[in-house]
Amino acid sequence: MIVMENINKYYTADQERIHVLKDIRLTIDEHEFVAVMGPSGSGKSTLINTISFLDGDFEGTYLFEGNDAYRYKDEKLSALRNRAVGFVFQSFQLIENNTVLENVALPLLYGGKKQRQTKPLVMEALRKVGIADKYNKLPKQLSGGQQQRVAIARAIVGNPKFIVADEPTGALDSHTSEEIMELFKHLNEEEKVTILMVTHDPEAAAYCRRIITVKDGELLEEGVPYAN
Ligand SMILES: Nc1ncnc2c1ncn2[C@@H]1O[C@H](COP(=O)(O)OP(=O)(O)OP(=O)(O)O)[C@@H](O)[C@H]1O
Ligand SMILES: [Mg+2]
Repeated sequence: MIVMENINKYYTADQERIHVLKDIRLTIDEHEFVAVMGPSGSGKSTLINTISFLDGDFEGTYLFEGNDAYRYKDEKLSALRNRAVGFVFQSFQLIENNTVLENVALPLLYGGKKQRQTKPLVMEALRKVGIADKYNKLPKQLSGGQQQRVAIARAIVGNPKFIVADEPTGALDSHTSEEIMELFKHLNEEEKVTILMVTHDPEAAAYCRRIITVKDGELLEEGVPYAN
């Protein structure tokens, strides 16, 4: 599904050019559950932002389902990002004044669905993450783990090709982290969701079926968990 060949990326800050991704070669197939590990500043977020069509400023080849998607015009690339990728963040990124139902419906509305078409799909996604009874609540009425479940429901509601999760358990206590990792494992195994997850936590990475490590912008395929 995802094929990267010789990806190189540079950032320029204070007239200094830093080489953030170095000759990355990476293939990710459908139904994989991959952990991306590595020290702070090694390029993990940069790598997954590249994979998830957020930043096309790189050298090398990135093919998504055989297509050089970054050549698409902005509108088509945005549509692809909305349809193909579900995003989960460390800080949940829910809209505080919107209900759970409204938060989860957002990607569907961006994708052009009518309001009334979204409710059954939202309820199905909430059921998959185990919080269908909370649909009418506001985020602040939920625990951190429940809020992350809402964010995961929002990520899967449009049936994306893959989800990217950048430190999804970073703001959660260890017990809640385990519950969220169990949920990801369930979604991967039962719902066949492809998941790419950045984590510093070896216990979270242990739920994944494949671990890759980024170090100084280089990818160490099947690297051992990085102990923090
Ligand atoms: N927009 C930017 N402009 C300039 N430099 C950047 C930018 N974003 C990231 N960098 C630099 O690129 C390198 C990789 O950053 P990145 O955020 O990908 O690391 P990371 O592995 O995700 O780190 P962390 O574990 O702390 O989240 C770092 O040296 C960082 O300072
Ligand atoms: Mg990061």
